Amino acid sequence: MVLGHPQLVKFLRLAYSAERVASFAYVGHAGSLRDADEIARVQKIEEDEWGHRRHVLEIMGQYDIPVSRWNELKYHVIGKVIGHNCYLIGRFVPYFFWGSWRVKTCANTLS
Ligand SMILES: [Fe+2]
Repeated sequence: MVLGHPQLVKFLRLAYSAERVASFAYVGHAGSLRDADEIARVQKIEEDEWGHRRHVLEIMGQYDIPVSRWNELKYHVIGKVIGHNCYLIGRFVPYFFWGSWRVKTCANTLS
């Protein structure tokens, strides 16, 4: 089945790759924490993000939408940078960049 809505296709491809950014950010965040309960909660969120990614991929598969290799590369790098910032700078920068990026992405998607 083909989805005849180019903007939605573009959004799904972006969402799939962007979930990787979220997952990597939570990996870094969990790795920077010391409290075991807090780590477990963040790791649960990370698992949720990987689940979102699998769910988006299922939807893409239903409509034969290919994964964007460019988005995968780009958001892999962004996710790793954000995740590693947790070890270097603490919570503020990853939160700030993640929030800013998410707002920008949503604004671009809705425009
Ligand atoms: Fe997500």
